[in-house]
Amino acid sequence: MPVEQVSAVHVLNGPNLNLLGAREPAVYGAATLDDIRAQLAERCAEKGVELVFKQSNNEGDLVCWIQEAGAAKAPVILNAGALTHTSIALYDAITGARASVIEVHLSNVHARESFRHHSYIAPAARGVIAGFGPLSYILALEAVFANEARKT
Ligand code: DQA
Repeated sequence: MPVEQVSAVHVLNGPNLNLLGAREPAVYGAATLDDIRAQLAERCAEKGVELVFKQSNNEGDLVCWIQEAGAAKAPVILNAGALTHTSIALYDAITGARASVIEVHLSNVHARESFRHHSYIAPAARGVIAGFGPLSYILALEAVFANEARKT
C-alpha cells in the first residue's frame, strides 16, 4: 500500500481565539494563540512537517481555508470557536472539500452552557478533542501523526 506522507498540517482557528490569554482566563487559560502556535511548531519541526497556522474572525475565511486544505489533502485541526455551534457552512466545507478534520476545543464544551453542547462540525470530523487547554491541539497533532504512521 502506498505511504501517504503528511507534508503539512493546517491548524485553523475561528472567532475570538485571537484574544486568548486575555479572554476569560478562568475558562481558556493564560496561553496566547501564539504560545499554542509555538508549541505546535516545535512538534511539527521534530516531525519535519510544515505547520500552516491561521486565525480569522470571519466564517468565509475558514470556509476558504478548509477548502484549500481539502484540495491539498492536508489534515486540518480546527477550533472553529463559536462557529462550531452555528455553522452549516463549515460542515458543508468539510464534507464538500473532503477535508480530514479533527475538531478541537480548549474548554470542555459539554460541561458549559447547553448552547455549546451541539457541534455542526463533529458529524463531519474524524474526531473531537475538548477540555485540555492547549494540550487539545497537541493531542490532535499526535492523532494526525499516529494516523499517518498506521498507513505505513
Ligand atoms: C471554544 C469553545 C466555544 O464554545 C467558544 O465559542 C470558543 C472557544 C474552545 O476552544 O473552548 O470560542 O471553541
